[in-house]
Amino acid sequence: MKRKAWITRAFAAALVVAGAISLSSCEQYSWAKQEVPQDLTVSFSETLQPFCQGCHGAWTVDRTYDKLSANVDTVTPASSRVLSIHSSITAFGSQMLQIDTLLIPATDVIKLWATQGAEKN
Ligand code: HEC
Repeated sequence: MKRKAWITRAFAAALVVAGAISLSSCEQYSWAKQEVPQDLTVSFSETLQPFCQGCHGAWTVDRTYDKLSANVDTVTPASSRVLSIHSSITAFGSQMLQIDTLLIPATDVIKLWATQGAEKN
C-alpha cells in the first residue's frame, strides 16, 4: 500500500471514531417523554386556572373551576370531556405547563389533577 493511501485511510478511520463519539454524547439531549411523578400535586389555582384563562380570559376563577370540574372524569381521566372539546385546538394539546422544575403536557396535568380528586386547591 502506498504511504499516501494509508494516511488517507487512517484519517478517515479517525473521523469515523470521532463522529461516533460526538454522536453518542448527544444522548443527554434525548427527546424521550418525561415521566410524570405520580406523587406530584397539581394545584388548580396555581397551574390550571391560569392556563384555562389564557384562552377563556372572561371566566372568573369560580366559573373556570365549574367548567373544568364538570368536564373531567376522575375515574378514567383520559376520557375527560375537556380533552375532547379541545382536541383540535393545537395550542391546547401542545402546551406545556410548569410545575416545580418540570415541564408537563397540559393534558397530562389535567389528567393527574382529575385522579387527585379534581379539587379546588
Ligand atoms: C388554547 C386555547 C384554550 C385553552 C388553553 C382552553 N380552552 Fe376551552 N375552549 C377553547 C375554544 C376555542 C373553545 C370553543 C369555543 C368556545 O366555546 O369558547 C373552548 C371551549 C371550552 C368549553 C366548552 C364550551 C363552554 O363554554 O362550556 C369548555 C367547558 C372549556 N373550553 C373549558 C376549558 C377549561 C376548563 C380549560 C382549562 C383546563 C380550557 N378550556 C382551556 C380554547 C381553549
